[in-house]
Amino acid sequence: MNSVDLVIRGAQVVSPDRIVPAAVAIAGEQIVAVGHDDLMPPAAQELRADGLYLLPGAIDSHVHFRDPGYPHKETWKTGSAAAACGGVTTIFEMPNTNPPTGTLEALRLKQKAAQSSYVDFGIHGLFGDDTVDRLEELLEGGVTSFKAFVGNTFGNLPAPSDGALLEGFETLAPLGIRTVVHAENSSILQRRERHLKAAGRKDALAHLAARPAVAEIEAIARVIILAEWTGARLHIAHHSAADSLYLLRDAKRRGVDVTVETCPQYLLLNTDHMLRLGGVMRLNPPIREARHNQPLWDALMDGTIDMIATDHAPHAPEEKTRADIWACDCGFPGVETQMPLMLTEVNRGRASLMDYVRWSAVAPAKAWGLYGTKGVIAPGAHADIAIVDLQRRGVLSQNRLQSISKISPWNGRAVQGYPLHTLVRGRFVMRDGQLVTEAAGWGRSVKGVQRMPTPQPRHTEHFIGAVLQTPPGVPRTATPLSDVAE
Ligand code: DOR
Ligand code: ZN
Repeated sequence: MNSVDLVIRGAQVVSPDRIVPAAVAIAGEQIVAVGHDDLMPPAAQELRADGLYLLPGAIDSHVHFRDPGYPHKETWKTGSAAAACGGVTTIFEMPNTNPPTGTLEALRLKQKAAQSSYVDFGIHGLFGDDTVDRLEELLEGGVTSFKAFVGNTFGNLPAPSDGALLEGFETLAPLGIRTVVHAENSSILQRRERHLKAAGRKDALAHLAARPAVAEIEAIARVIILAEWTGARLHIAHHSAADSLYLLRDAKRRGVDVTVETCPQYLLLNTDHMLRLGGVMRLNPPIREARHNQPLWDALMDGTIDMIATDHAPHAPEEKTRADIWACDCGFPGVETQMPLMLTEVNRGRASLMDYVRWSAVAPAKAWGLYGTKGVIAPGAHADIAIVDLQRRGVLSQNRLQSISKISPWNGRAVQGYPLHTLVRGRFVMRDGQLVTEAAGWGRSVKGVQRMPTPQPRHTEHFIGAVLQTPPGVPRTATPLSDVAE
């Protein structure tokens, strides 16, 4: 038997339908065997993992690494180090950088910044009125997917018009490419914020008052209509409200290819925390009332929500702690704390480890066309593995985060369950809880392994590309036929 690079022994291997004791052999970047201890090939290196669990590395569909544009908030090196130390082996990075990732030149800057990544990555390109004619060019340039900021947020990118959304979906539907949507209605948000400011409100809850759940409901309904009409794949980012879940349930039942993420903050935090923490917790969509928390868990359980992402949105502490809520930047870091937070809920019996793997790895791998290569511990897959100690207890500390943004609403929270080691394509990027600094730059784009199956686009006869020419046999003017006949 050929010798391999690494054999991990003594752990339990977790998939969405079972947890089995098994050894795992890794050669180069791939898993080559999963099975009984005695059947493992000889290995250059062995790792004893007794009592630990091997999870497919988490795939986070939603992070902001800020480079180019805001390196004082985060860089690819620090953000991806946070991912590595959080058991996250692949991230998808958002386009609201400066410049936004909506031109080939901006994409080149981002790809350059991404060369320092510890973990594998996809790049969401910008989908807006100004970029909708460039989507194919951006795909050829290396983006894996797109993001439409239908609700305005950090970076103040204008929301795409409904017309541009429809045209972009018409372009992307035949290609099978999925679009992430920040689903809030911009005009509702802007008017509300104006009124609240004029009334002198600057307290923490004014932010929620400016972004009511109806803004999310309306935007989700709208993008589902356009995606269903065109056949385009849709991904709802950071789902926050109980009240819009029915739209997703109905759309899924009708066969619309819509995937949905929520984040630990929407599952575990609510306005009670916002009152204590103020601007630190300001983010978009907002943290809502406690009545939203449990329905989001229920929706994860029944598959209405497919996955956990983090919306890792780092800002500098001074940008988060101003007295006026409108002056506090929106978002906070999350890619490093997601796994301990969710494992703590597993330990509390709120979900099984198998559920967690479905939400953290399998569902995102499927949504982005990576499943089989990523999202699973099986021969032939990339050796992207989080080795987890479910017993280990600790307290989350913002000062110990890899992120530059050392300010987090999770600071001081007791957790049980940590990733101890993280492997990306066979290489340790975190070992014994420590970042492996030499692994900076090991991460690479998943574009090369992404396989999006082509869907059946709907209503192609109305697509903009199909209607620009007068069809054969149709008079070239609208003059009534009776007049032409003379
Ligand atoms: O709170 C947020 N911050 N929500 C977003 O959608 C964007 C993010 C950011 O980029 O800071
Ligand atoms: Zn975001």
